[in-house]
Amino acid sequence: MGTANCDEVALVTGAAGAIGQAVVLALAGAGAPVAAVDVNAEALRELERQAVGKGLAVTGFAADVTSTGQVEAAVAAAEERVGPIDRLVNTAGVLRAAPALALTDDDWEQTFAVNTTGVFRVSSAVTRRMVERGTRGAVVTVTSNAAAVPRMHMAAYGASKAAAAAYTKNLGLELARYGIRCNVVGPGSTDTPMLRSLWHDESGPANTLNGVPSEYRVGIPLGRFATPADIADAVEFLLSERASHITMHDLLVDGGATLGR
Ligand SMILES: NC(=O)c1ccc[n+]([C@@H]2O[C@H](COP(=O)([O-])OP(=O)(O)OC[C@H]3O[C@@H](n4cnc5c(N)ncnc54)[C@H](O)[C@@H]3O)[C@@H](O)[C@H]2O)c1
Repeated sequence: MGTANCDEVALVTGAAGAIGQAVVLALAGAGAPVAAVDVNAEALRELERQAVGKGLAVTGFAADVTSTGQVEAAVAAAEERVGPIDRLVNTAGVLRAAPALALTDDDWEQTFAVNTTGVFRVSSAVTRRMVERGTRGAVVTVTSNAAAVPRMHMAAYGASKAAAAAYTKNLGLELARYGIRCNVVGPGSTDTPMLRSLWHDESGPANTLNGVPSEYRVGIPLGRFATPADIADAVEFLLSERASHITMHDLLVDGGATLGR
C-alpha cells in the first residue's frame, strides 16, 4: 500500500520481532527513513544489515522500552542521526500466558512494563518532541484482539493491551489539536513465533483456526492466520495521509475472530 508521506521519518519499537520487521520493511520499502528500536541488539543488527543490503534506510537503536533512560537516549539518538520523527509504531510486546490464578507478580509487572508502560514512555518521548517543534505526526500502537475479548490464560496480557489501547486513544484526544493522530491496531492470531509458543501439540493450529468451545473461543471466520504483512498493511494505512481524518480508532485485524467487536 503506497503512502503519500513516504519520506517521513518513522520510529518502530519491537523492530526485530516478526510484526515489527514487517512494519519496518513496509515503511522503509516505501522510502521512509526508519529508526528501528528493539531490546534484542543482535537481531536488530541482522535486520539493519539485511535492510541496508536492499538499499533501505534502516538504522538500529538498541533500547529496552522498560527503561526511561534508554528510551530517551534512543529517541534522542534517532532524531539526531535519522531526523525528526514524524511517525511512531509501538510493536514491542511480551506474552506470558498463564491461568489468572497462576500469574506471579513478576509476570504481571513485566507484562505491563513492556506492553503498557513501554508504550507510554516511547509515545511520550516521541510526541513531546513533535509538539515542541510544532510538527504534525501519527502514532500507531499494536495491541491485540485479546484486549477486546477475554481469552483463557491471557489475563495479564489482555489487561496490558487494553490499557495500552486506552492510553493511545487518550493521547490522540489530547494531541488532536496539534495535528497528531493516534490509533490502535489489534492483531488476532498472526503467524509468528509468539503465536506458535502457544501451541503445545499438533492440534494447536487447527484449534486456533476452528475455535475451542470449552475455552469459549471462536475460530477465525476468514479461515487463516494473519501474516505479519497483514498487520503492517493496517499500520501503514493508519500512518498514511490516506487516514488523515482518522484518530482514536481501534482497528482489529483478526479475520473476524472477535466477531467485529
Ligand atoms: N503474533 C501474534 O499472534 C500477535 C497477536 C496479537 C498481538 N500481537 C502483538 O504484536 C506485537 C509483535 O508481536 P510478534 O508476534 O511480532 O512478537 P515478537 O516476539 O516476534 O516481537 C516482539 C518484539 O518486541 C521486542 N521486545 C520485547 N520486550 C522489549 C523491550 N522491553 N524493549 C524493546 N523491545 C522489546 C522483542 O525483542 C521482539 O523483537 C506484540 O506487541 C504482540 O503482543 C501479536
